Amino acid sequence: MTSPNISRRGDQIQESPIRKLAPLAADAAKRGISIHHLNIGQPDIPTPVEFWDAVKSNMNNVLAYGPSIGIPELRESICGYYSRSGISIEPDEVMITTGGSEAVIFSMIATCDPGDEILCFEPFYTNYNGFATLAGVSLVPITSSAENGFHLPPSEEITSRITERTRAILICNPNNPTGTILTDTEIADLADIVSRYNIYLLADEVYRDFAFDGRKHSSILEFAGIADRAVVMDSISKRFSSCGARLGNIITRNKSLMKTFVKFGQARLCPPTLPQYGAAEMYRSLTEDYYKSIVSMYQNRRDILMQELHGREGIFFLKPEGAFYATIKIPVENSDDFAAWMLTDFSVDGWTTMVAPAEGFYATPGMGLDEIRIAYVLEENKMRSALEILKVGLLEYRSSR
Ligand SMILES: Cc1ncc(COP(=O)(O)O)c(C=O)c1O
Repeated sequence: MTSPNISRRGDQIQESPIRKLAPLAADAAKRGISIHHLNIGQPDIPTPVEFWDAVKSNMNNVLAYGPSIGIPELRESICGYYSRSGISIEPDEVMITTGGSEAVIFSMIATCDPGDEILCFEPFYTNYNGFATLAGVSLVPITSSAENGFHLPPSEEITSRITERTRAILICNPNNPTGTILTDTEIADLADIVSRYNIYLLADEVYRDFAFDGRKHSSILEFAGIADRAVVMDSISKRFSSCGARLGNIITRNKSLMKTFVKFGQARLCPPTLPQYGAAEMYRSLTEDYYKSIVSMYQNRRDILMQELHGREGIFFLKPEGAFYATIKIPVENSDDFAAWMLTDFSVDGWTTMVAPAEGFYATPGMGLDEIRIAYVLEENKMRSALEILKVGLLEYRSSR
């Protein structure tokens, strides 16, 4: 007997380009090949000791459910973190989520009905595609170009894509996968558009601390007049190198929207309880020095990427302004094939480099085929070695085609 059908959305949901090559990586490992992972934003820096201490001191007999909205200590400590950058929010405007991922899903399903549209600037964080499929929402892509550093196109181009089904504009700032940081003028333009068209502005600010060369990242929470339509999605995964804690948050000053988030939250009961104590302690006690040290570490890695790859023949990208990613044009026809080949057919002294093909970071078919995304999350020596292997691999791949 044949098995029952899989749902349409189950068929349609994309495989994450960050993870889909994992089986090839596992095979390479079985053959004894070691891999430099530039494909995934998994920081290598130790999770702060404040996290582990707080988790240990909150270990009780029963690992119980917590509040759906998250524990008060964490929500208050997040308000403290924002107030240090001059942004005033109240604990009842913050809900803790199971990762930034759940924050994005909740923001989509609370603002859109199935069939509604969200405008999004491509390339965008690839999993927005997957989240949109889960939500039954159409992501309407507006393409930004490498040549202008992936900054936003003119307002008229944005508004020309708004239809009666458009419910929101989704931005990722600083951007994964491009490293672009929007200027205040760009955000003000978006604030103006969402107000004029009565739609939401959803901002994924997971990388808000990672701004380079003295830049300041501005949150949409700082812009007047959009309190009722601004939603920020955030995470501790990158900020505190705590990807496995699975904690994020969603912030809005719109009370009805927050009530809706909480109802979704009640349906999934609560975010992980124990790590919330660790997160609260990190938000409370890590000082400016911690944030400065991680920014300078990633900026240094960004500079290594520039030294090793920028200006090489056939390779094109502008200097990333923040986050820890770059979207890079490479001289191949199909970066999917190249990324797979690096795992199946290539190594230097027992090592290869894994990158993410960029096609899945676009919604427009055919875009990104000659681009890869690199996450510069490795320490200096490993970064240099990973990039050297990538350059040699690129030459060999091209000469073998
Ligand atoms: C832009 C962006 N948003 C959201 C997420 C999801 O983060 P989390 O690990 O908190 O689910 C990521 C993870 O890489 C990301 O890069």
